[in-house]
This record gives sequence, C-alpha cells and structure tokens, in this order.
Amino acid sequence: MLPRINPTNTQAWFLLKKHHEEEMSRRHMKDLFAADPERFQRFSLVFEETLFDYSKNIINQKTLQLLLQLAEDCKLKDAIHDMFAGLKINETEHRSVLHTALRNFSDTPILVDGKDIMPHVQRVLNHMKTFCEEVHSGKWKGYTGKKIRYIVNIGIGGSDLGPVMVTEALRPYWKKDIETYFVSNVDGTHIAETLKKVTPEETLFLVASKTFTTQETMTNAHTARDWFLKEAKDQAHVAKHFVALSTNEKDVTAFGIDKANMFEFWDWVGGRYSLWSAIGLSIALTIGYEHFEALLKGAAAVDEHFRKEKFDKNIPVLMALIGIWYTNFFGAQSEAILPYDQYLHRFAAYLQQGNMESNGKSIDRSGHPVNYATGPVIWGEPGTNGQHAFYQLIHQGTLMIPCDFIAPAISHNPIGDHHTKLLSNFFAQTEALMNGKTESQVRAELEKADKSKEEIKRLLPFKVFEGNKPTNSFLLKEITPHSLGSLIAFYEHKIFVQGVIWNIFSFDQWGVELGKQLANQLLPELADDTAVTTHDSSTNGLVNAYKQFRKN
Ligand code: F6P
Repeated sequence: MLPRINPTNTQAWFLLKKHHEEEMSRRHMKDLFAADPERFQRFSLVFEETLFDYSKNIINQKTLQLLLQLAEDCKLKDAIHDMFAGLKINETEHRSVLHTALRNFSDTPILVDGKDIMPHVQRVLNHMKTFCEEVHSGKWKGYTGKKIRYIVNIGIGGSDLGPVMVTEALRPYWKKDIETYFVSNVDGTHIAETLKKVTPEETLFLVASKTFTTQETMTNAHTARDWFLKEAKDQAHVAKHFVALSTNEKDVTAFGIDKANMFEFWDWVGGRYSLWSAIGLSIALTIGYEHFEALLKGAAAVDEHFRKEKFDKNIPVLMALIGIWYTNFFGAQSEAILPYDQYLHRFAAYLQQGNMESNGKSIDRSGHPVNYATGPVIWGEPGTNGQHAFYQLIHQGTLMIPCDFIAPAISHNPIGDHHTKLLSNFFAQTEALMNGKTESQVRAELEKADKSKEEIKRLLPFKVFEGNKPTNSFLLKEITPHSLGSLIAFYEHKIFVQGVIWNIFSFDQWGVELGKQLANQLLPELADDTAVTTHDSSTNGLVNAYKQFRKN
C-alpha cells in the first residue's frame, strides 16, 4: 500500500515554503550562474548518450536538498520498491503497475498474486516477433495471396498515442515496404480518409484496445470490417486481415478474430503505459521487431537507473522534484514540452495523456480533497515552429511556464546547415529565457540604431525581457529506438514520482468515465427528430438545434 502522507504536512514542505519566500522567489538565475562557475557541472547529468541539463532552474543546493528531503518524507523509496515488486499500488482498481515488467530483460521473476508473469511477457514477445517476421517476409499473405503492405492500427488514447508518437519519432527506421496508419477518432472522417489510402487485399488491421469495449475503437473496427468484407466477401478472410491487441479474449473472439491472432496483455499494464506491450505491435511491424526490442531495452536501462541511482543523481526523480517546486511553490500551472526534432512532433500530445490522465486528480489516497495543486497542463509543439507561435507568452507573458527542451545532436536528415540552425535556436532560446534582456541592454541597442530619446523612452518597457524562465534541456546524441525508449521512461517515472509525492493515485482514470456514460445515454436520444426536454436548457438547446440543422 502506498503511504498516505499529505506532503504539505511534511517538514520538508514547510522548509521549502520558507526557502521559497525568503530566498528564492525573487532570485534571478543569472545571479545564480554568476555566483557559481561550477553550476552546469553541478546541475547536469549524463545518462548513456543523453545529457540532462537542469542548471537553468531557479534552484540552488539548498532547494535541491529540501526537495530531496521531501521525497524522503513522502517515502518515495518504498513506493518505487512497491511498484517494481508488483504490489497492487493501483488501489482503486486493485491492480499492480508493471509496465516495467514488459521491458525486463533480466532473469528476475516478477510476481503478481504469487505467480511469475515473465514467462507470459516472453511468450507474447515471441508471438510478436514471429508475426513480424511472417508479415515482413511475405509468409503471411492476404486473402488474394498478396503481401501485407499497409498496417492500420485502430485504437484510441493509450492504444494509439504511444504507437503514433513512437512510429513518427522513428520514421527513419521504417521498413521499406510497409506504410502504417492510425485511426482513433470516432469521427467517420478519420477512418474514411484512411481507407482511401489502402487496399483490402494488402491491409492488416490491428484492433488495439485493452478493454475491447471502447466506443471509438469498436465503431471504427466494425466499419473497417464492413469495408473489408464488401470486397473480400467471405467472413473466413477476416482472419488474415484483422488481429487484436487486447486483454479481453471473450470480446475479441466475439468480434470474429481468431484467438490465435490475439496478442495478449494484462490488467497490470495501464493504457497510457502500454506501448511496451502487445499494443506496440504496430511499432514492431513498422520499424521491425529488433528495433522494437531496442526501444524496450532503452526503457529498461532507465528503469535500472531509476530503481538504483541515488535520488540526487536520479534523472526522473530530479525532473519530478523540479516540477513540484514550480507547481506547488511558484504556482506554475503548465509545462511546455518543446522537442527540437520534427520527428518528435507527437511527443507533447503523447505526454499529455501520460501526465494529465495520471496526475490530473484532486482526491488524495485517503479519499479526501487535496489542499495543494497536482498535475499541471502539458502542452507543446516542436521547435522552431513554436517560436513563431506561443514563445512570446513564455518570454513576456504573466504566467510561469517551465519548459523542457529536447534535441538530438545528430540529425537523421543532415541537409546543408538545417540542423546547426535548428540547434542554434534550441541553445539560444534556453539562454534567452534564462537571461532575458535588461533595460540597459535595450537602451544600448536602441541608441545604436539611432533612435531618438523620446522613441527610446516609449519603446523601452516593451523590449525588456525579465528572463528567469526555467528550462530543462535534454540533449541526445541521436534519436534511436534505444534513446527514445530511455526518454519516454524518464517521463513515465517522473509522473510516478510526482503522483507519490502528491499523495494521489496515478494509475486510474475515473475522470474520463462520466462523459462516456452520458454520451451512451444521449446516443439513443439522437435517433429521431423528437425534441428533447430531459436535460438542462443548454444541452436541450444544443441537441434540438442539431436536430433542426440535420432536418433542413
Ligand atoms: O480515455 C480513457 C481510456 O481508458 C484510456 O486510459 C485508454 O488508454 C483509452 O481509454 C483506450 O482504452 P482501450 O485500450 O481499453 O480501448
């Protein structure tokens, strides 16, 4: 059982509050750098071929020491142990949390209810491997004897975002003869537009759903099957073109998918942590099983780091504590994820689910409302695009937005000077956010540009940048399956640490249920044109206007 500790009642919290008010709330990072020539060495870490620089944060040694004490006060060490050991830390669903077992390549058994789950993990991995080999070699044939050329993954949330993000991030590793598409939205446009690009005889549909009951996925899966059967005619051909990635064997077979073509996973894999499981089949089919395994091994290396490294050298722990520093002491309400790598363009979207579905909670582990802030809003876009869109607010707005900058040193597309230009922007932005621009610097610039005294006076306030905007930087040597696996795992464990300290349950998601329930109740009411009166006046008004529009 995870502890029930209100973090605000700990000694560390009290001291952090005092430290923030008395020492850090008005400290400028520029001064912290000026006072300590060793600051970068002190506040940066290297993990394999990834540099994590957290020196551009409004922290000093004392801040860190108090944050580390907070981790101790909240019994983080025990919580880490309990997660890896398979204890049922997802208490509201009475489940273990073992996405780490999916990438456990050691010989250590992992027990759930007294039984080793590793043989099952290995069995499914072997199944995935054989299946990928058959599809890639052409041994697996479609109903007309043709090779599979198109993969269409039908899933949503955790059964979509991880595979989409990873396959996009690893486009340079794509198999030559495979094109992969993802359909998630129940909006018919998504499947309709996708089906225009593929042919029934060469397409393999992966129906990816942990529960196999999700409305969006089942609707899209039925539409895909109807489309397929219109051409293939014979129900028996479904077996060659539809496979399932699920925990629900009963509904998978009821859908018409052969049990042999079901890639299983288990209730101890949370949806948003499932890309490492059978849900990753779209990844393995797209980039090859060996690269999928490299992704798992990259994550496994971080699991080791997270489990064994002391907290002051532990990257996910530091990421989490720094986040808590801003959320709970500076009042930051969001965090921006800014990858300087076009291939990582879905990374922020992926982390939105990972982070916000995990830590967007307001009830603590004892069932009481929390009296402090929990998970922030996660957002972001790749650089340099974001620079021309929302960076203005980060630089000069009224909100504090801690940012994570992520970039590879080596590009997969070394064309001309694109990559040096990209990275010059990466470095310049973190520097500009930290230093800002003082009044005297602006004045000197305007004087150099021969502006009049009046003009200088008028323009000056608008051109000053306060700076002191915190950033973390991840500089990876290159985005590879291994390094990407590590990067994702850093964030997964950051989310875990924050959930432990905030005293919330990070692995359930009750908040998404109400909307689903109401949509199901509303659906039959949309069947005919009879005006509805059973809801509030706004909902009645919207439904009835919709009915009018569709009538005319
Ligand atoms: O949105 C809620 C949710 O349950 C997510 O947690 C999950 O990843 C997604 O729906 C899809 O669920 P499933 O894989 O069961 O279709």
